[in-house]
Formats: sequence, structure tokens, C-alpha cells
Amino acid sequence: MKLIHTISDLHSLLGAYRHPAVVPTMGNLHAGHIALVQAAKSLGDVTVATVFVNRLQFGPNEDFDTYPRTLEQDCAKLEEVGCDIVFAPAEKELYPQPQTFLVQPPPALANILEGEFRPGFFTGVATVVMKLLSATQARTAVFGKKDYQQLMVIRQMVQQFAMPVDIVGLDTRRADDGLAMSSRNGYLSSSERQAAVLLSQTLKTFADALRSGRTDYAALEAQAMQTLTDAGWKPDYVTARRRTDLQAPHNGDALVVLAAARLGTTRLIDNLEV
Ligand code: PAF
Repeated sequence: MKLIHTISDLHSLLGAYRHPAVVPTMGNLHAGHIALVQAAKSLGDVTVATVFVNRLQFGPNEDFDTYPRTLEQDCAKLEEVGCDIVFAPAEKELYPQPQTFLVQPPPALANILEGEFRPGFFTGVATVVMKLLSATQARTAVFGKKDYQQLMVIRQMVQQFAMPVDIVGLDTRRADDGLAMSSRNGYLSSSERQAAVLLSQTLKTFADALRSGRTDYAALEAQAMQTLTDAGWKPDYVTARRRTDLQAPHNGDALVVLAAARLGTTRLIDNLEV
């Protein structure tokens, strides 16, 4: 496995390949990321993982400074699973000048749910993903469905810019108790970690109610928000949306339930397709 820090070294190395399969990450890798890399291995002729904590997608009061940077451990995990190239650029390499060209996703998608609570988040994500896919000459890129809205933004970006990249979304990896794997789980104390299972349980109860045929979405949302609030969480949203565009559902639409909530100081997100 080769660890590469510059775009020019990456391009020299990639000259020998036709179909890079790329897994963009911010590092601090867990089993969910590793499953993405494993999937990528059969989707191209070279597997590239990128590790870059992207300042552009963090708000001023978010965890950019404290986000765990664990490149050495990440490389050991990637090597073990047979990744070929790790691209871990310094900030000056990816953003040599202030990034004044930005990819701005449409407000109807980018200003709802995560975008409502994290203004500018999807502009930061779309801009860096555009840059990473270009730098890695990706022909396939693999993302997790835990970031459901992010995956939708990236799919639409690639489609609207006619980028020659297949976007593959993989199901969320979960711990045995159902908690979705996330780098931010590492912020939880051991008692919070035990309590954190409530987020996926609440989504499951919500999804089961919808599967049983209920369509009183507002009542179900209020109930789910209350369940979390009663247990000491601060939910930003728990909501049922159409899978196609994350807008409010009408009867008969294929649905996804999505949630974001803070447990102590840790903000977690999760979703379940119904
Ligand atoms: O999902 C993530 O880890 C990040 O948002 C991504 C896609 C690597 C962009 O920085």
C-alpha cells in the first residue's frame, strides 16, 4: 500500500490504472469505512482511500479542531484490508489558495434536515468531494448510507456535472445493539454509549409504525422526538421523508426515516429505509 500526500504523486501512480475505485473519508476509520473499502476492491482496478478532515464542511462551533486525526492507525487498517493507495493531503495541498470556487447544491436539498442545522455543510461536502473525485480520477466512488442526504447530494452533483463516476451507496454498519457506526461515537462516555442505542430503536419504532400502514406522519414524528427528549436527548429532527428527494411524504411513496440528535455534547445521525 502506498501513502501519498500530493496530487502530482497521486497522478503519477494512477497513470498505470484505468478504473480507480475510491472511498473518500475523514479518517478515524471504523468497521463501516472498512466495509466500504472492501466493496471498492471489486469495483475497480485500483482501490484508493482518501483521508482528509475538510475544514470547509465544519461550522464555526463544530468539532473541526478536535476531530480525531489517526492516520497511522487508519493506514494499518487499510493495509490489512488490501487497500492499494491512501491519499492523505495536507490542507495546503488540497486548498493552496482560499477555495473561492464552491459547489453549491440546490437549496431544496441542501437547506433541509442536516443543512438546516449545519448551514453550509453540503457546500463544503460537495466542493471537497468534487475535488477528491477529480484528484483521484475516480471511476467509482463508495459512500455509506448513514449520511443519507450527503449521498443524495453527491449523486445529484455527479449527475448534473456529467462526472464520469459511478456512485455506490452501502448499507450502514451497526454495532450489535444497533448503534450506527460513526467516528463521533468515540466522543461518547461509556454510559452515553449504552444510552445511544435509543436513536436506532426510535427510528425502528417509527419505521415499524409506517410499515404497519400508519400515515399520521406528524404524530409519529412528535412521538419519536418526545421519546428522545424524555431520555435526555436534544433532537434536531426525527422525520419521515420520501426516499427520492427527502421532501415530505405522500401516501404510497417509498420512505426513509431520518434523525439527528445530541446526546450530551455529541451529535449523532441515523436513518432507516422503510
Ligand atoms: O462522509 C464523510 O466522511 C465526509 O463528509 C466526506 C464525504 C469524506 C467529505 O469530506
